[in-house]
Amino acid sequence: MNKVYIKHSVVPKLRRFTPWVYANEIDSNKEEFQSGEVVALFSKKDGFLGTAYVNPKCAIFARVLSFGKEEIGKKFFHNRIKNAIKKREALLNVSNSVRLIHSEADFLPGLIVDKYGENLAIQINTAGMEVYRELIISTLKQFLNPTWMVEKSDLHSREIEGLEDKNGTLFGEPCVQFELKENGLRFLVDIEDAQKTGFYLDQRKNRSICAQYIKENDKVLDLCCNAGGFGIYALHAGAKECVFVDASDSAIEQTKANLEHNELVSESLHVNDVFTFLKEQKYKNSFDMVIIDPPSFAKTKEQAVGAKRGFKHLLMESTKAVKDGGLIGFFSCSHHVGRKELLDIAMEVSHDVKVQYVLLEQMQQDSDHPCLINASASFYLNGLLLRVEK
Ligand SMILES: C[S@@+](CC[C@H](N)C(=O)[O-])C[C@H]1O[C@@H](n2cnc3c(N)ncnc32)[C@H](O)[C@@H]1O
Repeated sequence: MNKVYIKHSVVPKLRRFTPWVYANEIDSNKEEFQSGEVVALFSKKDGFLGTAYVNPKCAIFARVLSFGKEEIGKKFFHNRIKNAIKKREALLNVSNSVRLIHSEADFLPGLIVDKYGENLAIQINTAGMEVYRELIISTLKQFLNPTWMVEKSDLHSREIEGLEDKNGTLFGEPCVQFELKENGLRFLVDIEDAQKTGFYLDQRKNRSICAQYIKENDKVLDLCCNAGGFGIYALHAGAKECVFVDASDSAIEQTKANLEHNELVSESLHVNDVFTFLKEQKYKNSFDMVIIDPPSFAKTKEQAVGAKRGFKHLLMESTKAVKDGGLIGFFSCSHHVGRKELLDIAMEVSHDVKVQYVLLEQMQQDSDHPCLINASASFYLNGLLLRVEK
C-alpha cells in the first residue's frame, strides 16, 4: 500500500478523528496516486495515522476509511455494513423506511443506502467507494435479501470525482409506488423518479416536532412541500387547512396522491416558484404555521451570500403571512447556511419587520442521518421553530 505523507500541522485534526484530508494538507505529490486508490496516511514525525482512499481530482484528497491498520476488503465491509444496519433497528418501529448507511457517519465515506421496506436505494458518490461496488452490493444482498435494489448515483459530486452518473435497477422488480409508513401516516413514494433516494427521510423527526404544535382548526402554509410531508402531518394533527407550494409538478402530484391516501383534503396546491408565489399572494396575518423548507441554495461556500439573501426574503414574507403568535419552521439543508446563520438571519428580519421571534425548538436531521462531531459538513440540516410576536 502506498503512503501519503501529510503536513505536520494536520496531525491533530486526524488525531481528533476528522475523516477528510484536503489536497493542500499533504506533503506528497498527489499526481502519483490513482483515483480511488487505498493508501496509508503517514506523518514524518508521528508515523501511521490511518487508512484512506484518495482522489487527486478532488479538493478533498483523502477520505479516511479507518483510523486503524485494517485491511479494506470483505471483512471490513461486512463489519461496517452489519453495524450500520444494527444501529437503525429501533427506528424501524417509527417507520418502514430509514437510512441504513450515512457515509462518513457510518465510517463508509461516499456510500448512502436507504431502505424502503424490502427495497434498497443506493448512492455511490466517490471513486474510492466505486472500487468496492460489487462487494457492497453482494454484502447488502447477503444481510437484507432485498426484493429490489435501485441505484441513484447522480449527485454533482460524482462529476467532481470524474465519475459518470449511474441510475437504475441493479436487480429485482421495480416498485413504482412504495407505501412508506411514518408515525402512523402513509406516503406513496416513486423511489426511482422522485428527488433524493425517493423521500426526505431526514425531516421525519422534524415533521413530527412541528405537528406537535398544531391546534384544532389551524391554517398552515407548507412552502417547498415536496410530497407534502409537513402539511400532511399538520392536517392529520387537526389543522383545518393547508396550502401546499412546490416548484416541481411531480412533487405536487405526489402531494395530491398522499392527501388522498391519508383521507385528507386540501383545495390549495400550487406548482410555483416560492418567491413568485409569495409575491403574488401578499398574505398578511393569515396562517398559524408556515414551513419554509427550501432546497440547498448554497452548495458551495461561495454561494452562501446569495443563499442567505434568499432565506432572508422567505423569512420576511412568511413573517408577514403568519398571525401574531403563529409559528414558523425555518429550515436549511446546507451546512454553509447552518444554525448560526439561520439565527443571524432571524435577528436581521426581526429588526427589519419589527417583530420578536421566540425560539421554541432547534432541529436537525433525524438520527438515521447522524452527524460526526469532527466533520462540520455533516451538520447539514438545521431548523428553527420560531414563535412570532408581532
Ligand atoms: C428540502 S425539499 C422539501 C422537503 C419536504 N419539506 C419534506 O418534508 O419532504 C425542497 C423542495 O423544494 C422544491 N423547490 C426547489 N426550488 C423551489 C422553488 N424555487 N420554489 C418552490 N419550490 C422549490 C423542490 O422541488 C423540493 O421538493
